[in-house]
This record gives sequence, C-alpha cells and structure tokens, in this order.
Amino acid sequence: MTTLFSPLRINNLTIPNRLVMPPMALDLASEKGEVTSKLIEHYVHRAQAHPNPHSPGKRNGETATRAGIGLIIVEHTYVNPSVKAHPRQLGIDDDSLIPGLEKLVEAIHKMGVPIGLQISHSGARALETPTAPSSLVSPYLRRFGKEISDTLEIPVELSIEDINLIIKDFSAAAHRAKEAGFDLIEIHGAHGYLLNEFFSPLTNKRQDQYGGSFENRLRLPLEVITAVKKVVGEELPVFYRLGADDRILGGIGLEDSLRAVPYFVEAGVDCLDISGGICGYLKEGPEGFFTYLSKEIKRISSVPVLVTGGITQASSAHQIITEQSADLVGVGRAMLKDPDWAKKALCLTESVAKES
Ligand SMILES: Cc1cc2nc3c(=O)[nH]c(=O)nc-3n(C[C@H](O)[C@H](O)[C@H](O)COP(=O)(O)O)c2cc1C
Repeated sequence: MTTLFSPLRINNLTIPNRLVMPPMALDLASEKGEVTSKLIEHYVHRAQAHPNPHSPGKRNGETATRAGIGLIIVEHTYVNPSVKAHPRQLGIDDDSLIPGLEKLVEAIHKMGVPIGLQISHSGARALETPTAPSSLVSPYLRRFGKEISDTLEIPVELSIEDINLIIKDFSAAAHRAKEAGFDLIEIHGAHGYLLNEFFSPLTNKRQDQYGGSFENRLRLPLEVITAVKKVVGEELPVFYRLGADDRILGGIGLEDSLRAVPYFVEAGVDCLDISGGICGYLKEGPEGFFTYLSKEIKRISSVPVLVTGGITQASSAHQIITEQSADLVGVGRAMLKDPDWAKKALCLTESVAKES
C-alpha cells in the first residue's frame, strides 16, 4: 500500500516521501529579486527539522528514506521585473540571479531534500503594470482591491507580440532554474495569475486564437509548458499548478479541469499540482479542501497529482495518500507556523501506520 512514507519517482527525480512544502512567498528576497540569507534560513529551517541519515532525495532509484519533508517547492518567482506581484518577490528574470539561487539549492540539498522552483507571471495582479488576456478588472482585485489599492486598476490587454515575449520569458526563466540546480520547475497556473486568467472564461474574453473556445483559452498555458519542457529536457520534471476550480460561477470548474488534463500531459506536464480560487489561494475550508478536485483528477491522470489546502493534521495527510486522493500532499500554513510540523507529523503517522 502506498503511504505517506512511500517514495515517488518522477522522471529522474526520486521524492523520498509524499509530504511537500508548497510554494509560499513571504517577501524575503531583496528589492532586486535576489536570494537573501533570510530567505535561505527560512527554507533550511523547514528542511533541516529532519535528520536524513539515509540521504533522501537521491536520484535514479537509490535508496530513499521516510524521514523529513519529501519536497520543497520554492515560492512564485517572477519571470520579468515588470510583473512583480510584491516588492520583495524572488526573481528569475536575469542570469545575475542564478548564483543566489544556486546557494539556496545547495543549502537544501545538503539537508537531503529535493527542491523545485515555481515560475510565475502575475498578470492582472502585477504591482506596476497589470496585464491580462482582456481589459477587465480581475476578480482578485474586485474582491480585495480596497484592501490593497485605492483604485481598481484595469489591466492592459496583451497583444500577440506580448504573448510571444511572455512565452520566451518563461522558457528563459526555466533555463536559469535548471542552471541553478533545481530538481523541478513548477509553472504557476492558479490563484488569478496570468495563466489562470487565460484559461478562465471569466477573465478571457478575447476573440483571437488565445480566447473563446476551450482549446483557445488553454493555448497559452500549453505553449508555456511546451516551451519550458523544451529547454529543461525530458528528464527534469515540470509541474503545473492548476487552478482547477475558480470558485466563482461561470469560471473554471472540475469538468473543465478534467477535460484539460490530457492536454497538459501531452504538452509535457509531469505532475499536476492542484489548487484553486481565481481570487487568490483559498484561506478557509475543511481539512484537505481541494481533495474533491484532486481525487477526480487523479482518477484520469497518467501523471502524479499533488494536492494542497487546509491540511493541519498528520492524519489527514496520511489519509489523502492511503485513500488515493492524491500522490503528494502539500502542507502550507501549518508548516509556516511550525517549522517542525513535518517531523512531528511523520513520527506520528509512522506509529499509526505500524499499528494498522
Ligand atoms: C504566505 C503565503 C504565500 C503564498 N505564496 C504562494 C506562491 O508563491 N505560489 C503559490 O502557488 N501559492 C502560494 N500560496 C498558497 C499556498 O501554496 C497554499 O496553496 C495555500 O496556503 C493553501 O494551503 P494551506 O491551507 O496548507 O496553507 C501562499 C500561501 C501563503 C499562506
């Protein structure tokens, strides 16, 4: 039986267990998007809570261990400075940023934990130059605008030329991430960021080849995935964080996401990371609040599925895996709050697993 402690192989990467620290940006980079010592400490703190006597994170099928976080996916990292979502967001838009990222990778690898990087275009949520598939105030701003700005800024509609540059930005960013030594690349397609906005009929009212039909709305996410896969090669896993339910009437729902799965896989996705909420990540809900999506997606997906959302109890994480609602489980805020969460959770679930 697959448990929280079972390793998972994705292409050339062996993830030693099923517990993932999902991308969470805390504004710890420098204003130029550089890795800072504070940012490294933040990740090391969570990775090092777990002694790794058997060197987890080894590749090519070498012995994996059940100790520690199985995988860290580093926070959303901007692919172009014009699309920064917050002042101290991490960047990957320039080669000069690679040495800092390399340091972060080395520090986490020393702990024996694999590490991925999420690359992102914030679209209508960009601080300075919001852009979108269509010139509409984003659902995110409509909901939270008053909290973050005095005006509801209308994003500029992207031209075909702009779209081609965005694809290039993503592929250059992925190339840099590979250079820096990351074990996988994750493309951000959730939480009202650009690729989510292209896929969603709520925010994409275009009438060209990037809007209208299901296939057209999916075109940019697929072109980005294809371009990223091309630069990183077959072996390095590419994850896609899918906003599988916009949670607004008329937006993307489970049916659309199920229909999109074979397209993502065909384009080169090696793992689907399930999240949702076009107004931003969901903050409330029962334990494992996105498993209603992941378990259906897992049923039809030929690639592994990761789910994150509302998990605070080790027993819930354990259950999600044993009931096959997902292949990997992300625990976000609970790990922020308690850096030792994974260590405690794994000890606890190990004893439960032995008893049952
Ligand atoms: C402070 C913070 C920053 C986040 N930053 C990102 C991010 O950079 N990229 C992303 O895809 N999700 C981000 N998220 C969403 C989390 O990855 C996760 O999906 C969300 O917190 C729900 O999981 P949880 O209930 O386990 O916290 C962030 C969440 C928090 C709390």
